[in-house]
Amino acid sequence: MRKKVSIIGAGNVGASLAQLVVQSGLADVVLQDIVEGVPQGKALDLSQACPLWGSSVTVTGTNDFSPTANSDVIVITAGFPRKPGMLREQLLAANAEVVSGVTKKSAELSPKAVIIVVTNPMDAMTYLSYKVSGFDHSRVIGMGGVLDSARFRTFVAWEFNVAPKDVEALVLGGHGVAMVPMPRYTTVKGVPLTELLPKDKIDALIHRTREGGAEIVSLLKTGSAFYAPAAATFEMVKAILLDEKRILPCSAYLNGQYGVKDVYNGVPVILGCNGVEKIIELKLNKEEMDEFVKSAQSVRATIDELKI
Ligand code: APR
Repeated sequence: MRKKVSIIGAGNVGASLAQLVVQSGLADVVLQDIVEGVPQGKALDLSQACPLWGSSVTVTGTNDFSPTANSDVIVITAGFPRKPGMLREQLLAANAEVVSGVTKKSAELSPKAVIIVVTNPMDAMTYLSYKVSGFDHSRVIGMGGVLDSARFRTFVAWEFNVAPKDVEALVLGGHGVAMVPMPRYTTVKGVPLTELLPKDKIDALIHRTREGGAEIVSLLKTGSAFYAPAAATFEMVKAILLDEKRILPCSAYLNGQYGVKDVYNGVPVILGCNGVEKIIELKLNKEEMDEFVKSAQSVRATIDELKI
């Protein structure tokens, strides 16, 4: 039987992700949204692209949750995006209510699913979704590190005028300004960035990566990035559906790893059909570890505001 991916929130990120899943032909897609007509209209549009994409999957648009039943993967993109000048953390109150409500409804109907949370502030929203779903933490994962790493890869590739796919990058920590880009683990065809560029140049690339989302928000003015967030989420969805055992930086529940407890933060994980199959503990130097712990503390402070 074909796999099923339910995408909660049929806005910019949700619909772009739906397109990628439908084009890949990997799974049937259910698009759910609170606004009447929007998920239905987008589902119909995507269905009519299937003959052109050579895809045989079904696409369902709905305001109700019943069509999401027995999903293999649930992606939560429902909520509000940033406006110019806003930090992701400022979305906390509004998005917590949305994420909590949609998690409860979708988790009940798909008790075996892996949940991927995209809604910001993502690390805190992932923690909330974990608590509300009652799922094992290995099956509730946040999308941030794949996107932040893709942004870092892009800027490094531009610096050397090389193909972006030949650049590997790693960004750990929370999906916010306290993210922890790791130049030692960032390579151009295997050569570490630290051997290729002086510190001030690396710092400039890191700065642009940290502000990567805000740069787009300030250009768009009415919303936040969605093509790269959707592509990053698709990378995770594919790893789960195909049980690829990919090593990807994801927001995972930490209970002692990297010296922090009871918090979600971005770390490299092995991602397969069971969700997070292993958290990879890299040997960080003191400076990296300090930054990582600071980032986890800032996520923890946001979680504390949720009072759950
Ligand atoms: N249930 C279902 N859908 C909801 C609900 C709800 N309770 N509340 C809001 N939505 C829907 C909106 O109707 C909208 O279609 O969520 C969708 C969000 O889409 P956009 O506003 O286009 O936002 P998008 O750019 O997709 O970002 C979604 O992902 O990257 C993060 O910061 C971003 O938190 C934001 C989220």
